[in-house]
Amino acid sequence: MKTAIYPGSFDPIHNGHLDVIERASKLWDRVIVAVAVNHEKQGLFTMDERVGLIKKASRHLPDVEVTSFEGLLVDYVLEVRANAVLRGLRAVSDFEYEFQMALMNRSLDESLETVFLMPSQENIYLSSRIVKEVATFGGDITKFVPAVVNDAVAEKLNH
Ligand code: PNS
Repeated sequence: MKTAIYPGSFDPIHNGHLDVIERASKLWDRVIVAVAVNHEKQGLFTMDERVGLIKKASRHLPDVEVTSFEGLLVDYVLEVRANAVLRGLRAVSDFEYEFQMALMNRSLDESLETVFLMPSQENIYLSSRIVKEVATFGGDITKFVPAVVNDAVAEKLNH
């Protein structure tokens, strides 16, 4: 059984993430979306909220599991016996950071492969940071996030 891990902050999941998850679910038998615990970065959503939102947004995909992990990604990849780390690549600007992470992960574990998938063009400019910024200033984010996330963001920001 081929398993991919899709790690990230997902604070919150947006349509670009979901696009990548949907593409991956056609390529792997099992896709684990893994929310990374980061004690240094206070997010808008708690870990449990992020996991819950991803579960709801990916409910239509039976081979997708949602978890969280703490510590090094390479250790978690070994623990769940994944074959690949999956990351979305939106633009050239993502490349340097992604290249650095992929090579660091490979130097920590030579057997680890990172695979990049591109979301569709309409989702290419999305990021959680920019979606939160638009919502904070009262902008409409319904086009950019799953409906459950739209509601959750509105509730968080008391809109
Ligand atoms: O969505 P993000 O914030 O770009 O995701 C970054 C993430 C969570 C994939 C990365 O920070 C990570 O893998 N964190 C786990 C700790 C780790 O293994 N760090 C070394 C990776 S180079």
